[in-house]
Amino acid sequence: MTNTLSLEDRFQQRIDNEEKIEAKDWMPDGYRKTLIRQISQHAHSEIVGMLPEGNWITRAPSLKRKLALLAKVQDEAGHGLYLYSAAETLGAGRDELLHQLHTGKAKYSSIFNYPTLTWADIGAVGWLVDGAAIMNQVALCRASYGPYARAMVRICKEESFHQRQGYDILLTMMKGTDAQKKMVQDAVNRWWWPSLMMFGPSDIDSPNSAESMKWKIKRLSNDELRQRFVDMSVPQAEILGVTFPDPELKYNEVTGHYQFGVIDWEEFWRVVNGNGPCNEERLAARVQAHEEGAWVRDAALAYAEKQKQRNSSQVA
Ligand SMILES: [Fe+2]
Ligand SMILES: [Fe+2]
Repeated sequence: MTNTLSLEDRFQQRIDNEEKIEAKDWMPDGYRKTLIRQISQHAHSEIVGMLPEGNWITRAPSLKRKLALLAKVQDEAGHGLYLYSAAETLGAGRDELLHQLHTGKAKYSSIFNYPTLTWADIGAVGWLVDGAAIMNQVALCRASYGPYARAMVRICKEESFHQRQGYDILLTMMKGTDAQKKMVQDAVNRWWWPSLMMFGPSDIDSPNSAESMKWKIKRLSNDELRQRFVDMSVPQAEILGVTFPDPELKYNEVTGHYQFGVIDWEEFWRVVNGNGPCNEERLAARVQAHEEGAWVRDAALAYAEKQKQRNSSQVA
């Protein structure tokens, strides 16, 4: 019976059977395109995400904090590399992907267009931003595309370290002076809503979602993931001793979930479309880093070429 099925049907059957799709397998164009877009946006987010935190490496309050932050920022570079590599298995060129990022054609997570104003922001970013990322990414460990799913497994392990280091910064500050406690509350006030926006538009305004669910690239909808994040974060905020800036946030006995206020979608789209507080600065810093890194790429290529020649002369 199977051979009477179209390529497309057979592909869907494999997905429905929870088989992983691998780089050389047949796949519909739409599946490939969707994955390239999603994986490259994800890769861009990892490397742009290094910028707001890299900003605080030189000003970390102790050697221990500096080491942890340095390790975290390096992890994000690694995540970017795994993900660019995963996108390359689908036939996307890394130069082209980076070109799209540098010319503003490609998107990255909007959250990184907000500034990190105080040391407490580094804690809030680790706790909330990495926390929201984990919520998204744990579901992606089961994505149907093998190279993406496998990259996610390792990324998620590292993300949970990031989240803990953030939460630990805030816990420490909450045991400190009134000024430090105020700083924590202020950072949480500024990062809460943008963190909720990280899950993307509401399901009703998310046109690509149905297809991604059918292809099992996505396992849970934006709104489901956002709700899980809220449910997870509220008890953590209580332990910390901070509040979220949402008067409508309260536990609903009937649903068993925390209900929350309306997200400012106008702000979301404004930042997505390039007009957030730091969009220009982030893009400029990224382009500069790429240009200043040209000699490293040249040197690596020259070295690889030399190795290749040496190996082939040994064979001969
Ligand atoms: Fe990451
Ligand atoms: Fe992270």
